[in-house]
Amino acid sequence: MAEKIRIGALISGGGTNLQAIIDSCESGKIDARIVFVGSDNPEARGLERAKKHGIPSFVVPYSEIIRNCREYPETLRLPADFHMEDVLSKQHFFPPGPRKKMEDFFSSRVMAESMLLGKMAGFPFDLLVLAGFMRSLTPYFIDKVNTDPDRPRIMNIHPSLLPAFPGSDGYGDTFRYGCKIGGCTVHFIDYGEDSGPIIGQQAFPIHENDTIDSIKKRGLELEWSLYPACIQLFARNRLRLARETFRIDDKRTIQRTIVHILAAR
Ligand code: GRF
Repeated sequence: MAEKIRIGALISGGGTNLQAIIDSCESGKIDARIVFVGSDNPEARGLERAKKHGIPSFVVPYSEIIRNCREYPETLRLPADFHMEDVLSKQHFFPPGPRKKMEDFFSSRVMAESMLLGKMAGFPFDLLVLAGFMRSLTPYFIDKVNTDPDRPRIMNIHPSLLPAFPGSDGYGDTFRYGCKIGGCTVHFIDYGEDSGPIIGQQAFPIHENDTIDSIKKRGLELEWSLYPACIQLFARNRLRLARETFRIDDKRTIQRTIVHILAAR
């Protein structure tokens, strides 16, 4: 029997992707087991799903932490190993903006993340899956999880065919743009917004009588099979990252990190 990888999951809401992963683990469709579920939102319905399946869970109340940071900045005790310059130089989430605003953003997120890392420390894991986790992760957190740059281990599912429509409303943006095809993408997390190397995608047609709701429904159903399939590729050690250089013309080359999927053995 194949060895099972240990998955940690972070959620914010309904947790239907979490449910699909739990079901795939329980039915043996994927060689994995979920060792914890963490949420930034105490009301997340996904927490109930974890409980029902006997999976340990915890909450890190981001909204409260961010509010405290804003209202009582003098009480901020950032982790000793956090370096603002390092985070600002790595992140490509935001275009350069007012320094104070960026510092406030990253300090409050790192406060929350250090609590998250503290809770996660009790549950060793091989892969961290973001399953509708509606918070951006800073380079501080990402570097703590991705200790080997060639082997990233944070995956996300996004409701659009990336690189189109990053952000919090992929299906809505797809619909409002008048796209004739929508889709979902599983990718590794990098320091940008939904910009990391793509692992898998599924597409669906959009018809004249579709609405945002009908698109969301169609997309979510595809997500429920795409995410477990990508996790299984990770579990079977079939994902390899390669830094590739593409020559565009005489003057320009671009570099990208690509995920290659190895054949099944
Ligand atoms: C999904 O559409 C996912 O792509 C996006 O957030 C939604 C989460 O849904 N990141 P659920 O909580 O898994 O039901």
